[in-house]
Amino acid sequence: MKSLTITATLATLAVAPLTSAWGDLGHRTVGYLAQHYFTDAASQLVQAILQPTDTFDISDGAVWPDKVRRRREYTAGWHFIDAEDTPPQYCSVDYSRDCPGRKGCVISAIINQTALLSDTSQDTTTRNEALKYLLHFLGDVHQPLHTEAIDRGGNQIKVCFDGSCRKNLNLHEVWDTEIPNKINGLKREPKVDEEKETAKNWADEMFQSGGKISICDFTASSTQDCALQYAKETNVYVYSYVLKDGVDGLEGQDLGGEYYDGAAPIVKAQILAAGQRLGA
Ligand SMILES: *[C@@H]1O[C@H](CO)[C@@H](O)[C@H](O)[C@H]1NC(C)=O
Repeated sequence: MKSLTITATLATLAVAPLTSAWGDLGHRTVGYLAQHYFTDAASQLVQAILQPTDTFDISDGAVWPDKVRRRREYTAGWHFIDAEDTPPQYCSVDYSRDCPGRKGCVISAIINQTALLSDTSQDTTTRNEALKYLLHFLGDVHQPLHTEAIDRGGNQIKVCFDGSCRKNLNLHEVWDTEIPNKINGLKREPKVDEEKETAKNWADEMFQSGGKISICDFTASSTQDCALQYAKETNVYVYSYVLKDGVDGLEGQDLGGEYYDGAAPIVKAQILAAGQRLGA
């Protein structure tokens, strides 16, 4: 029994996920949304550390970790936590079980980068990158399939969406990109300007709708508890909705209809939560 589990775990670790995170639209939206919640001090800190320009704003910072992910292989494991639970029966995130020491996970990455960002003795580049990692990982930890190991976070579950069954389309990608794009009427692979515009509008809309999200009190000593709490809340959606019919109930299905209708409010809620919590 034990060796079987170990083999399965190693098999999961051996292959990095095909897709990354919320697609760029989701990450950009989380970045813009967070800005709405910044205190003056936070705005100043971000201004000083990120040094945004006309062509590199907070949303570009939020998508940056995906752009360096191939070049920096050691960061690949920082985008998710492979919860070895058993959806749809049981969901759980267990830090010691699910966050391998060497490779890390989204929670250890949040702890590490929070510490680096807060440490004024670190050099400018380290703190600049730490901020960009945080802009990104606070988003990732709110994507349900970034808190789930099964079939590599759904990367191996082939599905269709709105009549397209293209190669590589899978459940993970549907949650990262297809659902957020459909909510906003954005087509596949938009131009950056159009994507930023859409993200800005979506963030404004969510800010105005103003749902209040519970926010963990992030301090140096509570970073792990807070990140873990967010991951656990996110992981609950894996069994309450994302995989509620099991893998067999999803494989090959077109998720653009009824499934989308139920998923869209979850995506909105999670992007809103990520933006508010990142802002805080
Ligand atoms: C912490 O972050 C630094 C800078 O990105 C990285 O070099 C280091 O490997 C990270 N450590 C852990 C334990 O994630």
